[in-house]
Amino acid sequence: MSSLVFRGGLLSGQVAIVSGGGSGIGRTTALELAALGAQVVICGRREGPLARTAADAGRAADAGRAEGAAGTSGTRGPGETGETGGPGETGGPGDTGGPGDTGEVGGRVTPLVCDIREEEQVDALVSAVLERHGRIDLLVNNAGGQFLAPAEQISARGFRAVMRLNVEGTWLMTHAVATRAMIPAGGGKIVSVTLSPHNGMPGMAHSGAARAAVENLMRSLAVEWARFGIRCNAIAAGQIATEAMLSKYPSQITEMVASTIPAGRLGTPEEIAWMVAHLASPAGDFTSGSVITVDGARDNWLGQWPPRWGADAAGTPLSEQRPDSAV
Ligand SMILES: NC(=O)c1ccc[n+]([C@@H]2O[C@H](COP(=O)([O-])OP(=O)(O)OC[C@H]3O[C@@H](n4cnc5c(N)ncnc54)[C@H](OP(=O)(O)O)[C@@H]3O)[C@@H](O)[C@H]2O)c1
Repeated sequence: MSSLVFRGGLLSGQVAIVSGGGSGIGRTTALELAALGAQVVICGRREGPLARTAADAGRAADAGRAEGAAGTSGTRGPGETGETGGPGETGGPGDTGGPGDTGEVGGRVTPLVCDIREEEQVDALVSAVLERHGRIDLLVNNAGGQFLAPAEQISARGFRAVMRLNVEGTWLMTHAVATRAMIPAGGGKIVSVTLSPHNGMPGMAHSGAARAAVENLMRSLAVEWARFGIRCNAIAAGQIATEAMLSKYPSQITEMVASTIPAGRLGTPEEIAWMVAHLASPAGDFTSGSVITVDGARDNWLGQWPPRWGADAAGTPLSEQRPDSAV
């Protein structure tokens, strides 16, 4: 299956790890990166969802090859040759080809069970990826989660659990991949999925705190590791229509959440995956230390504009009454 947005082969030669790649945003991101030619390793605690993502990627790659063989591939533009070199190419670890570079338009997705909270499992994951592919160009820290609860009811244990998964798990993955793959290779990209809105996360105080920590971590590492050619960014996702989002929370919440977004709808997992692909591509080479908010403007306003109290009977936003000469 080809990407709806990017040309086939855009990420050929790159090796990516996507945590939480068995479901939701992580799954869609893994499929998109693979469709663009990256070799993708996904991890999570449950084998079943990981295996399903990998199988779906395999089917999509087969379909892409069949399309190519029939000369019907829609993934390349006129004159496109499939080489990855170009003006945006940076000399980073994605440039030289290597064990991960199969020359195919669609990359493979490999499932590996790993709990990102466990240091030994993270180390084993990184070892397995290096053994198999010899390099890691992109780490997508997507695995995460929390539970909805009034702050006064969050126990020390519950708070710690959310911090451990979202902050410590992200740190373990980031540190292992950077020190064992990206720093020795002279470059790489790390993208962490965090949360919008940033102006407080009532009902999820632990998660708001954890994601703020991760965003600051990305900003700090972007500075410290610039000397190694590593770019670090966060994508602050707004409310995204994943199965987890639509099924985990009380129905009143999922039913009204779209109405809290100025754009008037939930985001799609693809809209996060495309931002990851953009950052992974040469277009993202000068973007580092950024928090890119993808949320339909939810960070800036609660609900659609104009609010009922700020509109006339016809729904037109109120404006200041001025004499004609002043306009
Ligand atoms: N959907 C939204 O509206 C939204 C908005 C903003 C941010 N986000 C964030 O985006 C990420 C993906 O969200 P989603 O909606 O796609 O939810 P999801 O489907 O529940 O994805 C979370 C993934 O993380 C994995 N995971 C959880 N704990 C793990 C651990 N200890 N080690 C390894 N993997 C682990 C899960 O797999 P296993 O259970 O198999 O381990 C799962 O595949 C999360 O960090 C979420 O908080 C989501």
